[in-house]
Amino acid sequence: MASQTPVGLLSREERLRAVDRAAMGLYRWYVEKSQSKRDWRVDSSFPWRNLRTDHDSDILLLIEGFFAVEQYVPDFTAKGINLLRSSYARSQFQIKWGAEESKHADLWRNGLLFAARWSPERLNQYESDLRANSWELPWEDPIRIIFYTVFQELATKLNYANLARLASGQGSGPNPERHTDPVLLQMCRTIVADEAAHYAFYLEIARVLLYYVPAEALEAIEDVLREFSMPAQDIIPNWSNVQEAILRTGVYGPRTFFTDVLQVALGQLTLNGRKAVRDGIRKMRMVPTEDGDMRDTVVAGVLDVPRLTADVRRAYERVRKHEEETGLWEVDPTILEPGPLNALVLAACETGLR
Ligand SMILES: [Fe+2]
Ligand SMILES: [Fe+2]
Repeated sequence: MASQTPVGLLSREERLRAVDRAAMGLYRWYVEKSQSKRDWRVDSSFPWRNLRTDHDSDILLLIEGFFAVEQYVPDFTAKGINLLRSSYARSQFQIKWGAEESKHADLWRNGLLFAARWSPERLNQYESDLRANSWELPWEDPIRIIFYTVFQELATKLNYANLARLASGQGSGPNPERHTDPVLLQMCRTIVADEAAHYAFYLEIARVLLYYVPAEALEAIEDVLREFSMPAQDIIPNWSNVQEAILRTGVYGPRTFFTDVLQVALGQLTLNGRKAVRDGIRKMRMVPTEDGDMRDTVVAGVLDVPRLTADVRRAYERVRKHEEETGLWEVDPTILEPGPLNALVLAACETGLR
C-alpha cells in the first residue's frame, strides 16, 4: 500500500525513489505501446525504389544532416546508460530508446542511398568522418538530462514534421508542390510518431520530477535552457551547410524553437514561459538551500499545481490500466504517493508567499 505521508514530508531520497518507481511504470507502459503500435521495419516498410531521385540540393542536405545527427546513436545510448545505470527503469528505457533511434539512422542511410544516390564508398567515408568525433553528454546529472531531452525530442519531432510538410507539397514559398514525395512523407511521418512518443515519455518523467522535487527540477530547467543547443551539431563536419538548408527551407529556426518548442514544452510543464522559470529561481534563491521544503513551496507558486497534479495522475492512471490488464497491479503496482504539491500551495497561501 502507498504510504500516507504527504509528499512535502518525504525525504529527498524517498522522493527520488518515487520518481524512479514512476519511471518503471511508465517504461513498462511505453514498451508495451511501442511494440504494439509503432513496430515498423526500416528496409521492408517503405517502397524504397519509389523514393524520388530528383530532389533539390536543400532536401538532400536535410536528409544528410538528419542522418548525421541520428547516427551518433551509439554515443547517445551508451553514455546515457552509463549515467543512468543505477536505475533499472531509466537504463532499460535508454536501451529501448536507443534501439528506436538506431532505426532512424538506418532510415536516413537508406535515404542517402536511394534519394541522393550516394555510392557506398561516399557513404562509408562520410560515416568515418562523422565517427572521428564522439558526442558527449550535455549534462552529467540525470535530472538535467531529462529536461534537456524533453526540449530536444520536441525539437527533433518538429524538424521531421516540417520536412513532412515539404514532402506533402505544402511548404511555404513559390511552387511548394515541387518537393512532393509520398515515400519521403511516409519516412518523416514514421519518425515523427517515434519522436512524439519519446517526447511524451520524457515529458511525463519531467512532470513527475516537478511534482516530487519542484525546486531541483526548476533549477534543472533553467540550467538546461540557458545553454540549450541541439545534439551533435558542433561535431558534424559540414553542419553549417545543413544548417543553411534547414533555415532556407523553413524546417527549423530560432522562431520555431521559441514558439513551438520552448513555449509548448514549458506550457506542458505548467510553467508560463521563461519568465515564470526565472521568477521561480529568483524567489527560490532567497530561501536557504538547506530548507528544501520552503524552496519547493516557493516553486509551487510559479507552477499550475492543480494542472500538474492532474497531468501526473493521468499518467499514473494509464500505467495502472496497463498493470491491471496484465496482472502487474496485483504483484507490483505503480502507486502515486499521496499529498502532492497542493499541500505546499496551501501552506504557501497561508504564509503569504504566493
Ligand atoms: Fe530520432
Ligand atoms: Fe527521439
